[in-house]
Amino acid sequence: MSSPSVYIKTYGCQMNKLDSALVTSALRAAGFGLTDNAKEADVVLINTCSVRDHAEQRVLSHLGHLKHLKKTRPGLMVGVIGCMAQRLGEKLFQHEAVDLVCGPAQIPQIPQLLADALQEKKKTLAIKQKIRQTKKPEDQNLALEQFESAYGIEDRQLPGQAYVRVMHGCNRFCSYCVVPYVRGPEVCRPPAAIIEQIRKLADAGVKQVTLLGQTVNSYKYTAGEKTYCLADLLATASNIAGIEWLKFVTSYPAEEFLDEILQATADSPKVCHYLHMPAQSGSDKILRAMSRHYTAAQYLELLDKARAIVPDIAVAGDFIVGFPGETEEYFQATIDLTRKAKYKNCFIFKYSPRPGTRADKKLQDNIPAEVKKRRNIELLAVQERISDELSRDFLGRQVKVLVEGLSKKAHLNLDQSSSERQLVGRTAEDWIVVFNGPISLAGQFAKVKITKTSPLTLFG
Ligand code: 5AD
Ligand code: SF4
Repeated sequence: MSSPSVYIKTYGCQMNKLDSALVTSALRAAGFGLTDNAKEADVVLINTCSVRDHAEQRVLSHLGHLKHLKKTRPGLMVGVIGCMAQRLGEKLFQHEAVDLVCGPAQIPQIPQLLADALQEKKKTLAIKQKIRQTKKPEDQNLALEQFESAYGIEDRQLPGQAYVRVMHGCNRFCSYCVVPYVRGPEVCRPPAAIIEQIRKLADAGVKQVTLLGQTVNSYKYTAGEKTYCLADLLATASNIAGIEWLKFVTSYPAEEFLDEILQATADSPKVCHYLHMPAQSGSDKILRAMSRHYTAAQYLELLDKARAIVPDIAVAGDFIVGFPGETEEYFQATIDLTRKAKYKNCFIFKYSPRPGTRADKKLQDNIPAEVKKRRNIELLAVQERISDELSRDFLGRQVKVLVEGLSKKAHLNLDQSSSERQLVGRTAEDWIVVFNGPISLAGQFAKVKITKTSPLTLFG
């Protein structure tokens, strides 16, 4: 029999994209085939997200399609991996399409689990029974560390770019958030392993590395006498030849290490002037109910400080609207904060109660769906005006862009006689730039003159 081929579908955040890339590499190394075409796959793996109910519903509907597909392809194996696998565990087998359930901490076992499951044709469950055990988290994560160091070099999703995880999990327990329950406690990777990985990526032609952590600015690793923070990683990685841009996401609005990180950003020409630092709300009452340990004023002070050290830093944020108890007055405070913060862009989410979180247990989801929707639209409109103003500043200017590839609309303006296509890339400050050029530019830097702007996109 030829080697079984695997199709991986990824939902959710950059962490999940990275996990899928790691799994792809590991499966390839273990002799599996990988395919982009779900129809020809022997195995479909769905890497899932639990952060909002909507993300889980999309996965369930995908599983519905696979159930039908299995009627014509009884040998097809379906695996649910990632956050939803950890959250729901065995319950996922109630869905008859599901053969394999594997949590984020068990992804190093996937090649073996799949090989066994294919041979024995049995349902397979691999999740952490207790997500927060008493054992030292470093010891629990040895397998993950070995896995992470070994793979993830050749299966990047965008040419010339790679994600590198600096830490697993989260210790913050914001009251609405499921992440600490599904991804476990914070564990920082050893700096030597991270730097070695970036070096290998640079050797393989990677130009931009994005360091990933749920609260990336709290990265901290003690080895012997010295404690390393994210600023140390940024400074050391800046010395690696071939790496031209370094980004890091997501920052938690806390004092700890932020000064050092911003100083490292100002000092190194390679660290991009981009800060993704979610506020979640502009109301101190809601922030307290969310267990976010800062006030709106403190948040704005952090932004002032960031802009004092790195004057042109672009800031992105996240907000949750319709959190339990969010009155019109509290929502207005969020609008006020958004105006003052002058974000480049914001991600706005409607509150979605997550089973097991403190907000879900203690607070009633008492903001009606239509109010959440209206607030979402209203806040987006406020941000759109700010983004529009900021983007207009780019008119007539030339920007440096790392090209990702064809734009989403490239197929619409296909001119067969031209070798140029509509491409998309991003600037160091994470602005999206759409322009025409040869596809050979994918993974390369390009200079683009901006001729038109919209709130979220620069055109050149
Ligand atoms: N409901 C809505 N949005 C959420 N987020 C996290 N948990 C929830 C939830 N229960 C949002 C936060 C976070 C982003 C990744 O997702 O804004 O920053
Ligand atoms: Fe979730 Fe808060 Fe941790 Fe972010 S910092 S992953 S919102 S618990």
